[in-house]
Amino acid sequence: MDFTRRDFPEGFLFGVATSSYQIEGHRFGGAGPTHWDSFAATPGNVVRAEDGATACDHYHRWAEDLDLVRDLGADVYRFSTSWARVLPEGTGQPNAEGLDFYDRLVDGMLARGVKPAATLYHWELPQALADKGGWRNADMPDWFADYTEVIMRRIGDRVWSAAPINEPWCVGWLSHFEGVHAPGLRDIRATARAMHHVLVSHGRAIEVMRSLGMSNLGAVCNFEWATPASDAPEDVAAATRYDAIYNRFFLGGLFKGAYPAEVLEGLGPHLPTGWQDDFATIRAPLDWLGVNYYTRKLVRHVDGPWPHTGEAPTRLPLTQMGWEIYPDGLRDFLIRNAREYSGDLPIFVTENGMANPDTHNTPDGPRIDYLTSHLRAVQEAIAAGAPVAGYYVWSLMDNYEWSLGYEKRFGLVHVDFDSLARTPKASYQALARWWRA
Ligand code: FCB
Repeated sequence: MDFTRRDFPEGFLFGVATSSYQIEGHRFGGAGPTHWDSFAATPGNVVRAEDGATACDHYHRWAEDLDLVRDLGADVYRFSTSWARVLPEGTGQPNAEGLDFYDRLVDGMLARGVKPAATLYHWELPQALADKGGWRNADMPDWFADYTEVIMRRIGDRVWSAAPINEPWCVGWLSHFEGVHAPGLRDIRATARAMHHVLVSHGRAIEVMRSLGMSNLGAVCNFEWATPASDAPEDVAAATRYDAIYNRFFLGGLFKGAYPAEVLEGLGPHLPTGWQDDFATIRAPLDWLGVNYYTRKLVRHVDGPWPHTGEAPTRLPLTQMGWEIYPDGLRDFLIRNAREYSGDLPIFVTENGMANPDTHNTPDGPRIDYLTSHLRAVQEAIAAGAPVAGYYVWSLMDNYEWSLGYEKRFGLVHVDFDSLARTPKASYQALARWWRA
């Protein structure tokens, strides 16, 4: 990896990302149950029915983990706070231990010279709210606003940046249409409501954080490049529809106050009454846009009900996830999102990385290559005028990869899930060489 910091604009920030349920160990410290616990306990949902009960035991090993962040030379650390750790019932009485934990964590980052970048929701919805319909329920924005206030009254004075919701597409579509993530629904009406309520909740959380005097607030969306599987008009139309659902719906809401026509074709009849009136909330001004990027899909038309989209076999080398390695997609999203949506706002690549079947002592060369090619894509986007201001690797360490359990290793640091020992990989050393310089 022959970069230096001088190969990027002055002030460009490098960081690593994690999320609460994937690393903390949810059974510790008085957290309440979440829909990921019940989803994982249901046979067939998660590989070996693994859950986040222990995960990396970051709850107890956070100081060692923050030392790893510091020693890597990271400027910024993107972490998430767990709603169910802060409010075990979702609403009502806060868990003092949980608030203390995030307080210590933020102070721990500052003490190590690392900027804290908080995300308020990275998917583990408190079970009590899931029981009330979760993201389908129109009261979610109120509950989320209350949670935002409780946690940010405690740490909001010290976090460097904050974003409400990680990857609205996963919260809405993947979890309610494809059923791949908790709560595992496959229901178009639930999908439409979840996708809209996620955005309203985002807007309410931004309002709350502004009222607390916080700044540097953003939104973190995920993007997947959609290439038509052939030149046939039907495949081209399918790829456009896929792109609209995945990549343009949330940006449309956040930056234009409108949803793409190709999505309304299917979801329109299922949106909650009066959805058009919510854009004033959804469009709360932002300070930056976060882009999570991993891969692209080859999309083809399939007959049957909307959205008529299917995947065609991939053509490029794959990661352990079976995801195509396609760095051009990152470059093209950074350019397109700025041109068509976020304008001059700084863009951060808030997640990028790959899973690889690493052991604690084999060099993870494929990850070094992946990161190198994607950092080049970032440079190309900057050269083309995209205002990219930072880049975070997913992830600091191997962790709970949701429905794929502990098998898919995304970390710069290897975690032995029996002993919980951490061992920095070759990719960690490669990044540290120029991040620390
Ligand atoms: C993203 C998620 C993150 C992790 C990576 C691989 O979609 O935000 O939690 O699962 O993918």
